[in-house]
Amino acid sequence: MKKLQAPRGTLDVLPPGARRRLDVVAIADDVLGRAGYEPMETPVFEDTEVFARGVGESTDIVQKEMFTFEDKAGRSLTLRPEATAGICRAYIEHGMHKLPQPVKVWYAGPFFRHEAPQAGRFRQFTQIDAEAIGSDDPTLDAELILLLAEILERAGTGPSRLRLSSLGTPETRADYLEELKRFLRAREGELSEDVRALLDSAGMEYEIDPTLVRGLDYYTRTVFEVESERLGAQAALGGGGRYDGLVEELGGPPTPGVGWAVGVERMLLAAGDSPGEPAERLFIAIAKPDAARIGFQLARDLREAGFRVETEQAGRSLKGQLKQADRLGAFATVILGDSIEVKDMQTGHQREAGSLDQVLGLVREVTRA
Ligand code: HAM
Repeated sequence: MKKLQAPRGTLDVLPPGARRRLDVVAIADDVLGRAGYEPMETPVFEDTEVFARGVGESTDIVQKEMFTFEDKAGRSLTLRPEATAGICRAYIEHGMHKLPQPVKVWYAGPFFRHEAPQAGRFRQFTQIDAEAIGSDDPTLDAELILLLAEILERAGTGPSRLRLSSLGTPETRADYLEELKRFLRAREGELSEDVRALLDSAGMEYEIDPTLVRGLDYYTRTVFEVESERLGAQAALGGGGRYDGLVEELGGPPTPGVGWAVGVERMLLAAGDSPGEPAERLFIAIAKPDAARIGFQLARDLREAGFRVETEQAGRSLKGQLKQADRLGAFATVILGDSIEVKDMQTGHQREAGSLDQVLGLVREVTRA
């Protein structure tokens, strides 16, 4: 029988990799949520024109990298290669310009580009994407860049380099690369003073790099990219910028916008074995048969207290259970036997709890130690 395999460059993410991806998305949810960005979802495929007009006919993405197909009624559809065009399509279609502006949204999900697969480059990959549509206030540019930096720091991606540039507006943009470069050098000092001042006062380091080229046509004014030296050839962790003409290009009212996207697979590659925020995992070992029901209830209580808790469900010996707790990366194991013990998995130190009520306090002491 033919051996079935996933298509080239797509992902099978098994645990614990899938866990780490969710952790990264949870960090983004927390950081962006506290800045007023709300989750928003768009379809995995769109009318091909959304990307042809949005991302730009002449870009590599549209010319070479899209998975485009016809549906049964002969309509041309495309698996989304990026999020911004679809979000702007939805902004127009749902009259979101009538909402208080700016509309701040974020999204995490799968994207598709027909590229040659290699380390850090896939045909199906995951982006976290944040957009602020409906205002050209430069504090939004600065806010978004700082939020991206915070997410990367909390995800443990290590040192990175922020490159920043300004493209001017389409009316003034030169047609040819050389001319464009000369033009950008001349404009270097014009990159919004406000953005730069806000980044300076936040202590954010950046380089002005007029050679920065982004692979999408919709950018105007601010563009930026964050690179990690841990990534090799595919060095870009994420990037973005202003797209003040995109909503109009897609048929909406003139509306400014700014945003970025970051690749989750590249974040995890850069973070390596040192994920930013170790999950607070606990294991409950069952050291005598009639403790299983108590363990089951204790797991529920400790989960309610905010921990990630697993209990023994495969009939292992106590030794096997402690090994399993270690494999899971539990910081402590509660051992339910003739007595109730809380074992610090790092030091091996064990303390007895007088009753079930005392377990939570002892567990918290281990996290603080
Ligand atoms: P982009 O630079 O094309 O921007 O993609 C953003 C990030 O997605 C990249 O820096 C990279 O981490 C990840 N990425 C892109 N292609 C691949 C791939 N084939 N395999 C793995 N990771 C990949 C955009 O997509 C814009 N929509 C960003 C934006 C939002 N601009 C304004 N708003």
